[in-house]
Amino acid sequence: MDETIPILIYPDPALRARTRAVTAADRETLQGVLPRMFAAMYAAPGIGLAAPQVGLPLRFCIVDLAPNDERQPLTLINPEILAASQDVMTREEGCLSLPNQYADVTRPDGIRVRFQDPEGRVRTLDMEGLLATCVQHEIDHLNGVLFIDHLSALKRNMLVRRLAKEQRQARQA
Ligand code: NI
Repeated sequence: MDETIPILIYPDPALRARTRAVTAADRETLQGVLPRMFAAMYAAPGIGLAAPQVGLPLRFCIVDLAPNDERQPLTLINPEILAASQDVMTREEGCLSLPNQYADVTRPDGIRVRFQDPEGRVRTLDMEGLLATCVQHEIDHLNGVLFIDHLSALKRNMLVRRLAKEQRQARQA
């Protein structure tokens, strides 16, 4: 198995850091870090991971909806949502930076996304369902936004307090 990379946990400030677009000069950085990010995501296991979650203030993320079955790795570099459906979907979300915390989030059910792949090709994909939810969640990360920011203050505070308590207990164990 590939070497992994540590995933930063809320409230690490890197999760809120401003990101910049990936350029050709970042190619080696990406080639080095992508296998480690996929390894960390599969090990967690999770279905998405964004660069700020591993301390890189760059606009790229990875997703794979089937970490335990046949893998379908997708790397989205400089992703942009070109269009979103009127139809919305409410789905339970979690985040590797907020382990064990889950809440319902409502988002457009379908999106059209333009991005570059690791070979530098520009691609446009229409996504719906879980993939659309996951990619919106990951693109949020590139803007310093976490799924808890979509919740009411009451619900967010409850979840953040529970996470802090669990992290404290984990450190003491
Ligand atoms: Ni996340």
